[in-house]
Amino acid sequence: MWKGRFQKETSDLVKRYGESVSFDWRLYAQDIRGSMAQADGLLRAGILTTAECRQIKSGLREIEKEIQDGRFTWKFSLEDVHMNIESALTERIGAAGAKLHTARSRNDQVATDARLYCRDEGAVMSGLMRDLQRALVRSAAAHVEVILPGYTHLQRGQPVLFAHHLLAYVEMLDRDAGRLDDAMRRLNVSPLGSGALAGSTIVLDREYVAAQLGFDGVTRNSMDAVSDRDFMAELLFVIALCGVHLSRLAEDIILWASAEFAFITLDDAHTTGSSLMPQKKNPDVAELTRGKCGRLIGNLVSLLTTLKGLPMTYNRDLQEDKERLFDSIDTLKMALAVNAEMITAMQVNGSVCRAAASDPFLLATDLADYLVKKGLPFRHAHEVIGKLTAFSLTEKRGFPDMTLEEFRQFSDEFSDDVFAVLNLETALAARQAPGAPSPAGVAAEIKRWQKSLGKPARKR
Ligand code: ARG
Repeated sequence: MWKGRFQKETSDLVKRYGESVSFDWRLYAQDIRGSMAQADGLLRAGILTTAECRQIKSGLREIEKEIQDGRFTWKFSLEDVHMNIESALTERIGAAGAKLHTARSRNDQVATDARLYCRDEGAVMSGLMRDLQRALVRSAAAHVEVILPGYTHLQRGQPVLFAHHLLAYVEMLDRDAGRLDDAMRRLNVSPLGSGALAGSTIVLDREYVAAQLGFDGVTRNSMDAVSDRDFMAELLFVIALCGVHLSRLAEDIILWASAEFAFITLDDAHTTGSSLMPQKKNPDVAELTRGKCGRLIGNLVSLLTTLKGLPMTYNRDLQEDKERLFDSIDTLKMALAVNAEMITAMQVNGSVCRAAASDPFLLATDLADYLVKKGLPFRHAHEVIGKLTAFSLTEKRGFPDMTLEEFRQFSDEFSDDVFAVLNLETALAARQAPGAPSPAGVAAEIKRWQKSLGKPARKR
C-alpha cells in the first residue's frame, strides 16, 4: 500500500510484530459499513460515478459474504482488516476499488470502525444487563416471603428480605445500563473525514456520510478525532464497574452456597465437581465471574496506560486498544448471560435463611428504637441495649427468653409491649421508609421493576 517510497520489503519479524489482522478482522462488518458510506460520500462529491459506487458496494457485499462463510483469506502481510478488505476489493473490481481510500486514512477509518463496533456491542450488552436484572427480579418475586440476615462487616446486622438483597443488584445493574447509554450517546459521532490528522483537500459531506452510518453527528476536531480513544476507555470503565458488581454478587452466591450458610443450592448445571473429592459441588461460575472481573479492570488500566503518554495525534500504540476492547466485551457478555442462567436456576432455602434471621440480636436495634419511642435519647437507648446484649450473652438466653423483670433491670421504660417488638414480621413491616425492606415496600419495588423491565429484551 505504500510501496512507492520504499526500496525494501518490511522484515518478516516486523510484519509479525505489527500485524493486527489476527484480531482486528473482527471489525470487518463495521469496516465494510464504513466503506459503503465512504463510497456514498465520494459519489456525492463527484469522485465516483454511480457505476463505480455500485461496483464498490457489490464488491464489498461479496467480500462480507465470503468472510461470513469463512471463505475469505486473511493475509498477515496486509497488516490489518482495513488493508485486507481494500486490497481484496481492488483485486476484484480494479480501478474503482483503488478510488475508495480517497480523502480517507486508516486513522479515521479505524476510529470509525471502533465506534461502530462499540455501538453495536453496547446494544447487546445493554440487553444482557436487562436480562440479568429480569432474572434477579424474577427470583426476588418468587421468594418474597424469605427473610434473611442483612450483614455489615459480614456480621449479622438486621433482618432483611431476600428479595431486597437481590434488588440491590438490580439497582447496580440499572446504573451500569445507564452509564452504558451515556457512553453510547457520547461516542456516536463520526470521525470519517478527519483523514490522517488534518482532513483532506478533497472535501466530502461529512454530515451526510455520518448520517449513512447512523451517527448523530461528526467529530469537531480532526486531530482529536484520529487519536481519541476516550470513548473506548469509558466503555471499558462501564464494563469494569459492571464486572465489579457481578463479582460482588458472585461473592454473595459463593458464601450462600457454602455449608456454613446454605441459604441457596446452586443447580447442578452451574456447578462442577472435584476430580479428587467425590462429595464436592463447587460454585465455579461465581468464582470465575469474580476472577474474570480482574481482567476487566486490567483491560481498563491497560488502555489508560497506553493512552497516557501519547503525543498528538495518531500513534501506532493505539493498535493495542482492540484486544482489550474485544476481551472486555466478550467477557462481560458471557458473564452476564451465565449469571442470569445461574440466578434463574438456583434454589433458595427459605427455612435456613429464616433460621439465621431468627437470631434475636438482629432485633437489638429495634429494641433501642422501642426505647426511643418511649422517650429515651437514642444514645442512652443504645447503651441500655448494649448492656442487655452482654447480659444475654452471659446468660446464654436470647431477648425473647428473658422476663420483663430482667428487661426492667436495664431500664424502667420497658413494659409488656416489648415482646411484640421481638417478632421478625413486625420488625420488617415497621421498616417503612422509602428504600427500606418492609414487605409492602419491597413488593412495590418488584412491581416497579417488572413494569419498567418488561418482558422482551430491549433492542435498539
Ligand atoms: N491497524 C491500525 C490500528 O489498529 C490501523 C491504523 C493504522 N494507521 C497507520 N497510520 N499505521 O490502529
